[in-house]
Amino acid sequence: MIMENLAILVILSFVFISIIHHILKSKLGIKTHKSSTKFPPGPKPLPIIGNILELGNQPHKALAKLSQTYGPIMTLKLGNITTVVISSPMLAKQVLQIHDQICSHRTIPDTVKVLNHHLYSMGWLPPSSPQWRILRRVCATKVFSPQQLDSTQVLRQKTLRELMDFMKEKSEKGEVLNLSEIYFTTILNSVSNTFFSINLAHYEDSCKSQEFKDIIWGIGEESSKPNVVDFFPIFGLLDPQGARARMSKHTEKLIAFVDGLMEERLKSRALEKETTNKRCKDVLDSILDVMLEDNSQILFAAGVDSTSITIVWAMSELLRNPEKLEKTREELQCVYGKGEQVLEESHVSKLPYLRAVVKETWRMHPPGPLLIPHKTLR
Ligand code: HEM
Ligand SMILES: *[C@@H]1O[C@H](CO)[C@@H](O)[C@H](O)[C@H]1NC(C)=O
Ligand SMILES: *[C@@H]1O[C@H](CO)[C@@H](O)[C@H](O)[C@H]1NC(C)=O
Repeated sequence: MIMENLAILVILSFVFISIIHHILKSKLGIKTHKSSTKFPPGPKPLPIIGNILELGNQPHKALAKLSQTYGPIMTLKLGNITTVVISSPMLAKQVLQIHDQICSHRTIPDTVKVLNHHLYSMGWLPPSSPQWRILRRVCATKVFSPQQLDSTQVLRQKTLRELMDFMKEKSEKGEVLNLSEIYFTTILNSVSNTFFSINLAHYEDSCKSQEFKDIIWGIGEESSKPNVVDFFPIFGLLDPQGARARMSKHTEKLIAFVDGLMEERLKSRALEKETTNKRCKDVLDSILDVMLEDNSQILFAAGVDSTSITIVWAMSELLRNPEKLEKTREELQCVYGKGEQVLEESHVSKLPYLRAVVKETWRMHPPGPLLIPHKTLR
């Protein structure tokens, strides 16, 4: 019982800069006596659980408050893990830019280690590894390059058209919609079309379409829920919350799924060589020769939640501020008229007010306020 409560109280995944004791010892030769290790100030830790209870259920707010007492750099003990929290622009620049080589390693949540995912994934490999560099380069040249984004833009436009048709149909019938679910579907399809030229989710749920959504939703959930194993590695073998078992299932399913898509594509490409049937080139086409499989997990998991949550918050804030909503609408009508003109991604530059709305949304509701855990090398 106490375990459950602790787990709920603690956030794990997006936890800050953590410095693991033994690394300090081995790299710096710091003595094992507690008194000889100099950490920034912080609240007094309780035995065993440390400062976990201070985080409450909104850790980003609790941390902001604590930093008013202890300053922009402070130390917390989260269970077995010593964590340094920074919270000023100056320190963020020091850690994420000036000393990024040392500070951009990661503490890896237990659930991410299933099937050794962390050894292949851009989000978790250390930036010093050649593998991480290759994956970053592949993303820069094969996924997010202007040419590649241009080539897949029609696929995302199709996704938006489907969203608009669905909303229109529902609003004509006067039905109530759950926007969280709808935007999740839209963004999932936007990413899956960019990669594979297919919709992997649907608005009206059938069993089949729900399956893929559940996998991605599940991965997002498991990797952001607090897991007692991450604070007390001694429980590692037990997996008391069952998180590792669930994550294993999701990950296996996702890999099998992507395997299937790749095989299918290899076959259809072989056939296409003989015809002149022209498709638009998606990411799968351009990187079929490069290892993609493990990267698709991080791209789905990182891209779908962050983006759909941004839209949900932006819409919620606009609904709460009708005059801002009106201004956004006016700007859109100014650029698009009331007609059915197609949105081009390049038009974003013509929509400064909308861009400001998005930035303000990120300021008020940052989707990953605590980043992905960073670990210092020394
Ligand atoms: C609203 C949109 C988004 C927000 C707010 C957001 C936020 C973040 C944050 C805070 C991090 C951690 C940075 C760190 O630990 O220093 C991150 C990493 C990452 N994001 Fe996003 N993200 C967004 C959209 C996306 C999209 C659309 C994709 C891909 C399709 C994506 C892929 C990634 C990847 C791969 C990483 C790990 C990079 C690495 O470790 O090398 N993100 N994102
Ligand atoms: C974490 O626990 C292990 C024993 O399980 C212990 O050796 C180690 O010193 C602890 N680390 C910290 C930072 O408390
Ligand atoms: C909307 O969907 C989300 C995700 O499934 C759920 O957490 C939320 O409770 C739903 N909201 C309503 C009002 O049903």
